[in-house]
Amino acid sequence: MTDTLPSVENSHTVENLLTVENLVVEFPGRRRRAPFRALKGVSLDIAPGETLGLVGESGSGKTTLGRAILGLAPVTSGSITFEGRPLVGLGRAQRRAAGRDVQAVFQDPYTSLNPAMSIEDILTEPLTVQGVAGRDARARVRELLDAVGLPADAGARRPNEFSGGQRQRVAIARALALRPRLIVCDEPVSALDLSTQARVLDLFIDIQRRTGVAYLFVSHDLMVVRHISHRIAVLYRGEIVELGSGEQVTDAPEHPYTQRLLAASPVSDPHEQRLRREQRWAQAARAS
Ligand SMILES: Nc1ncnc2c1ncn2[C@@H]1O[C@H](COP(=O)(O)OP(=O)(O)O)[C@@H](O)[C@H]1O
Ligand SMILES: [Mg+2]
Repeated sequence: MTDTLPSVENSHTVENLLTVENLVVEFPGRRRRAPFRALKGVSLDIAPGETLGLVGESGSGKTTLGRAILGLAPVTSGSITFEGRPLVGLGRAQRRAAGRDVQAVFQDPYTSLNPAMSIEDILTEPLTVQGVAGRDARARVRELLDAVGLPADAGARRPNEFSGGQRQRVAIARALALRPRLIVCDEPVSALDLSTQARVLDLFIDIQRRTGVAYLFVSHDLMVVRHISHRIAVLYRGEIVELGSGEQVTDAPEHPYTQRLLAASPVSDPHEQRLRREQRWAQAARAS
């Protein structure tokens, strides 16, 4: 399965795309209680074209980390740099410029798309903000629909005419509109049924191969993350307890928490589990 992933340049020979160092995020405590520390000094990096999977149980801080990278969570201390430039503490104009390079796909395809807008308008919006308009914008929208496997006439339709998987394709197309270098994907397949999950994951891999985009890919499901990630980071109560290659983390986890995450999956043997999932995905792909 790993050999189907696009290869990544050795991260020691290239500049990191994203570097997070000692990141602390605290939310204010309610009613004068002490602030809640959701991230307790997280460090990681992502190379160009790489997928870093981020797993951990609910409440471990995965979404908070993604939101901090997107400038949507309060950074108490530590640093986030993108291609060597700081992403924290930017003014609005700088943030908007940086926002072009870092996009997001969220879990719920039913709430992330404005139901009143046509798909064409949804995809044109980010282009307009960056000054792409008219014929160029329409051509780009056609290109984007094609890139995510939606028919050209999808542009005239509205989100409610599409299934969850198709809506997620629209959300991916919107994220791709400005040719980002990194996409924060927060549980982007968790709301989809199994066969749709497999196809959307393969779309993510295919897009990465074609565009060289990097992903921070968040999921509570270790096996989903295993399918798509070059490396995997395991987050536990706001701290990274393990970070290694996809094989190492899923086949020979070192940290007791990772071992428990694996054991909590329906089949405790990781080899067996992966085999079963791959078989189900292969069946689902054949059936579609
Ligand atoms: N805006 C917020 N205000 C207060 N606490 C928050 C906020 N967002 C998240 N948290 C808390 O931070 C912790 C991590 O949440 P989250 O990042 O959503 O975890 P995950 O995505 O891994 O399920 C949880 O305990 C959550 O309640
Ligand atoms: Mg979350």
